[in-house]
Amino acid sequence: TWTTGNVIEEQVALIREQVGDKRAICGLSGGVDSAVAAALVQKAIGDQLTCVYVDHGLMRKGETEQVEKDFVAATGARLVVVDAEKRFLDALAGVSDPETKRKIIGREFIRVFEQAQLEIMQEEGPDVAFLVQGTLYPDVVESGGGTGTANIKSHHNVGGLPDDIEFELVEPLRQLFKDEVRMVGQELGLPDEIVQRQPFPGPGLGIRIVGEVTKDRLDLLREADAIAREELSAAGLDREIWQCPVVLLADVRSVGVQGDGRTYGHPIVLRPVSSEDAMTADWTRMPYDVLAKISTRITNEVADVNRVVLDVTSKPPGTIEWE
Ligand code: XMP
Repeated sequence: TWTTGNVIEEQVALIREQVGDKRAICGLSGGVDSAVAAALVQKAIGDQLTCVYVDHGLMRKGETEQVEKDFVAATGARLVVVDAEKRFLDALAGVSDPETKRKIIGREFIRVFEQAQLEIMQEEGPDVAFLVQGTLYPDVVESGGGTGTANIKSHHNVGGLPDDIEFELVEPLRQLFKDEVRMVGQELGLPDEIVQRQPFPGPGLGIRIVGEVTKDRLDLLREADAIAREELSAAGLDREIWQCPVVLLADVRSVGVQGDGRTYGHPIVLRPVSSEDAMTADWTRMPYDVLAKISTRITNEVADVNRVVLDVTSKPPGTIEWE
C-alpha cells in the first residue's frame, strides 16, 4: 500500500545504496520539489549531502530566510548560501525584454551554481559525485523517461580539478506526483510555507517587473506581493487560487491623489488564477472584499503605488505571467 512512510523508507534505502559513502550536492530553489528531494537525501546520508542556495535577489519577501532558517532547522542539512544579488542586478541592468531577462537569469544561475559546486569539490574532495534533483513523475514522462548525468565544465577560476566533471543524478521523487511530494515533505517535517508553496517561476520577480529590474523596484514589489499573499491566506483562498502573480508595471505611470496632492506612481496588477496544471487557467472569481482589502493596503503601505488593478483574462489567450 502507498503511504508516505513507505515511500520515505524505500527511497532512503535506495539513496543509501546509490550514493554509498560518496558525497552529493543539491541545489535548493526555495520551491517544494528541491526542498523535499534534499530532505529525503539528507535523511538517507546526512552530512554527505551539501545543499546550495543561490540567492539571486529576485525572491519574494521571506523566502530566502525560509530556506536559510526554516529548512535548515527542519532537516539539519548543511547549507551553502551564495549571495549573488549584486551579480544578478548588474547583469540585468538596462534590460527590459522578458526573454533576454530569462536568458540572463538562467545563465548567471548556472555560472554561480557551478562555481559553488567547484568550491565544494575543492573543499570536500573528489568524492562529490552525485547531484540531487527534484524531478517529478510528470517531468519524467514529458522528457521520455531517461535518467542521466549532469556535466559541469571547470573553466572557472578554480584550480586542481579535471576539465570536465560528470555527476550522477539522484532523483528520489521520480515516481511521485506533486500532491504526493507535498505529503512526503509534510511527513519529513518541512514547514508549511515550503510544502504548500504555490508555483513560482525560476526567474522570480525578475519577470514580474514589466520594465527594467532594479533593487528599488524589487523591494517595492516584494512589499506589495507580501501584502497580497498575506490577505489571500487570511481569507483562506490558498487552495482555490493556483497562484497569484503580483506584477509591477514599472514603465507605466498612473495619476493618483493621495494625502495633500496628486501623485504620479505605478500600477500593481493582481493576477489570481485557478488552474489544474498551468497549461490553461481562468481568473479566479474571488471575493470583492478581499480584493478591496489588498488594494487599500497596497496603496496605503507601498510608496509609489497609487493604483491596483485586477487581471480578468483567461489562459488562453493571456498567459499566467505578464512576461
Ligand atoms: P505562463 O505565464 O506561461 O506560465 O502561463 C505557466 C506556468 O509556468 C510558470 N512560469 C515559469 N516558470 N520559469 C519557470 O520556472 C519561467 O521562465 C516561467 N515562466 C512562467 C508560471 O509561473 C506558471 O506557473
